[in-house]
Amino acid sequence: MDERADPGPASRQAVSRRTERVASAVPIQMMMAFRMRSGYATRRLEPGVVDLTFGDPHELAPDAYVEALADALRPRDELWFAYMQSDEAAQAAAAASLERVVPLGWGPDDLRMTTGGFGAITVAFKVLADPGEEVVYNLPPWFLYEPLALEAGLVPVKVRARLPSFDLDLDAIAAALTERTRIVVVNTPNNPTGRIYPPETLEALAAILERASDRWGRRIWIVSDEPYNRIVFSGSTFHSPAQFYRHTLVCYSYGKTLLAPGQRLGYLAVPPTLPERAELLAAVDLMQIAAGWLFPNAVMQHAVPALERLAFDVPALEAKRDHVVSTLRAMGYELDVPQGTFYLWVRSPVADDEAFVGDLSGRGVLVMPGALFETPGWFRICLTATADSLEAAMPHLDAAIRAARV
Ligand SMILES: Cc1ncc(COP(=O)(O)O)c(C=O)c1O
Repeated sequence: MDERADPGPASRQAVSRRTERVASAVPIQMMMAFRMRSGYATRRLEPGVVDLTFGDPHELAPDAYVEALADALRPRDELWFAYMQSDEAAQAAAAASLERVVPLGWGPDDLRMTTGGFGAITVAFKVLADPGEEVVYNLPPWFLYEPLALEAGLVPVKVRARLPSFDLDLDAIAAALTERTRIVVVNTPNNPTGRIYPPETLEALAAILERASDRWGRRIWIVSDEPYNRIVFSGSTFHSPAQFYRHTLVCYSYGKTLLAPGQRLGYLAVPPTLPERAELLAAVDLMQIAAGWLFPNAVMQHAVPALERLAFDVPALEAKRDHVVSTLRAMGYELDVPQGTFYLWVRSPVADDEAFVGDLSGRGVLVMPGALFETPGWFRICLTATADSLEAAMPHLDAAIRAARV
């Protein structure tokens, strides 16, 4: 018999175990199914269908945005499109704006430009934790923490938010910490709930993490995922965990405030007061390269100073939020008024949120089921749709809750 005929099971496996581990994550399986096989997949481009799922733009980008990119496309020197890590002018503009939101004395060299929030979180996970170590985060979560953690070899540890406020459950977080915990992810303003965690909560979390780090003689870090830190409504104030716990890496994405998530742009910021700052920044530089050149394209980086001058219209979004919240409440939906972000987190009128979302999609309104956020019984509405589209969705949302009640 020719021994080369059957090379054995090991070489029949086409993909790595790492890939299999990522593929085994339920949130990513559900996300892929949602994008490829749900009512969203089949109906979203149909005329008259209102898509309230992802934070995508629903109108042409504003002229000022297009002009900022067009201007950045014109080369000023022969190195304009050369290999670029973090561009100094981009870092300076980003640091100045971060300082306005999170005043900690940030300088340009405290930031590294990344391919959006995704790139920043990816690098933070790889730099801070080793395979087998644990990353704690809150449910309902942004659905891609789990695959990013698994890809980095980390073990996701999930802690349910405290109901009914959906604030962090500090007792549950404290109970979840072990000697293997390396990272706690905090996402405020929160996707999907719209909560902004109060300063007292962040202060108490910092004390818990200081004690736990001392107990095990190993630092537990916060990865503060704050792409919505500029989308904060009147009456609410944003505080970053970095203001209470200096062992915090801040991850930011421009995809939300510029409503252009397909243009990958963000940063990872290392607090200037951090004793391990130089070591961390060197590690970030290294991992951005090693993980596949996770720097934004040259054009996007050149555009940052101009993009930083564009303002997100929070008052217009707030008006939309107020109108939709009161209209939904009048129909009988239960929901809190979000303090930030462009999401509404709504209780499904029937326990099976996927069935309810399916019914809504049959009526021509697409939203995301709570199951995608590991929180059945809820659904998420995205307010980036135009006011007219939102208005067009209202009779269908009304009909759906009425039908659910009979
Ligand atoms: C909480 C949260 N973190 C990170 C990201 C990733 O942002 P980006 O796609 O701009 O990199 C998102 C995007 O939806 C998000 O909602």
